[in-house]
Amino acid sequence: MNNIKIAVVGLGTVGSNVVKSIESLNKSNKVNQKIQFEIIGISAKSKSKKRIIDINKYKWFDDPIDLFNFNFDVLIELIGTEKGISYNLIKKALNQNINVITANKALLAKYGNELFTIAKNNEVKLLFEAAVAGGIPIINLLKNSIFLNRINHISGILNGTTNFILSQMEKNNCTFDESLKLASEKGYAEQDPTNDIEGIDSAYKITLLSSLCYGIEINHNFSNYSGINNFDIEDIKYAKKLGYKIKLISESMLIDDQIYIDTSPKLINENHSLARVEGVLNAINIKTDHLKSLFIEGEGAGGKATSSSIIADLYELITSKKDSKLDSSLSNLKNIKSYDKNSLKRAYYFRILVKDQPGVLSKVTSILTSKNISIQTILQLNEEKINDKVPIILKTYETFEKNIQETINIISNENFIENKIVTLTIHN
Ligand SMILES: NC(=O)c1ccc[n+]([C@@H]2O[C@H](COP(=O)([O-])OP(=O)(O)OC[C@H]3O[C@@H](n4cnc5c(N)ncnc54)[C@H](OP(=O)(O)O)[C@@H]3O)[C@@H](O)[C@H]2O)c1
Repeated sequence: MNNIKIAVVGLGTVGSNVVKSIESLNKSNKVNQKIQFEIIGISAKSKSKKRIIDINKYKWFDDPIDLFNFNFDVLIELIGTEKGISYNLIKKALNQNINVITANKALLAKYGNELFTIAKNNEVKLLFEAAVAGGIPIINLLKNSIFLNRINHISGILNGTTNFILSQMEKNNCTFDESLKLASEKGYAEQDPTNDIEGIDSAYKITLLSSLCYGIEINHNFSNYSGINNFDIEDIKYAKKLGYKIKLISESMLIDDQIYIDTSPKLINENHSLARVEGVLNAINIKTDHLKSLFIEGEGAGGKATSSSIIADLYELITSKKDSKLDSSLSNLKNIKSYDKNSLKRAYYFRILVKDQPGVLSKVTSILTSKNISIQTILQLNEEKINDKVPIILKTYETFEKNIQETINIISNENFIENKIVTLTIHN
């Protein structure tokens, strides 16, 4: 390919920046001078919308499907629907032997197996560096740089919106609602932030990373998740007293040849590298048989940062051979079972709001002991007493989740309980 013909569909935050990046790439001498990128067509919903690019330089398509009446080598899909038009375009392109670059994690997490198989059969590429952690080149790192390592564990902060909210709550003592409002005002939260705050967006991303890390089929149903919606500032404050921060952490590991994938708000030691990731940044920590810890941090979103990853994929397309190992990284994937999370041992944080009356503390500890849960730290915060209610904060040693659930059920029925019991896992 010397003249690379490209179609760009979706000209929003990412798409417009990608067009700009391609324009500047053509002017620069970064890529072999013999190669030119030619945008043969662009498409978005509204032609009259104000954009950071001059759309008049390009052929406009009201319906992106009409692009297929023309010849092109690469489809860059930046519409971002979970199925519908994005799925139709990508599938059609792959079936017509056209390479695809996308940032669409939701679609790949749900339909990736089918789409990667079509790509493999037709010997074209389906690249998605921008789909996980925006500008951080994590996919390339996993596919190429640490290809031979056996990955033992991967964990990360994969959603900038929720990390901004938690940082804001911690640093400026804001409530969840205030922090979400600020995230929207700054353009960090989408109009409908559900996927971000409920942990769904992070769950899609860790699903994709898990497939690459462990060579397993993409199965979003294996991804356990919970988010930070209505998260209480009290827990951030009490976690701090114990030497922890609270972060929305996605992680995955193989246990007994089964996959465990989880995204949830967790306590993390304040000295851990992930605990120091602030604001909208993303970060990933990988442990392998060769590397005790590999840590990478950067911009997980934003037009420019994400565009950098799309261009990296474009570069990969022109530099890799058609039959390179690239496609083998997402083919011949193993179909394995999901690890039962009840069998996993973890340490837990408890916040229990109780009536301030004699014997309550010993009653709580005896219930935990009866469930084989050992307490590492216990704080009865009398200085936090309001209307004769006082919080008990507990940190346990590692125990099974099912013991925790049983304990919650028992304690919740005691008459000294004043509120819903909060439990969070502690990231090891
Ligand atoms: N934003 C980020 O920081 C970021 C980071 C990483 C990955 N991503 C991923 O990148 C993708 C794009 O995200 P974005 O933030 O750029 O989204 P966006 O700003 O909402 O842009 C979406 C674009 O798709 C166009 N569009 C919608 N329906 C269409 C249709 N039927 N036909 C043609 N075009 C249509 C829209 O047209 P109009 O402009 O006319 O409305 C808009 O230009 C998503 O998969 C997202 O998950 C985004």
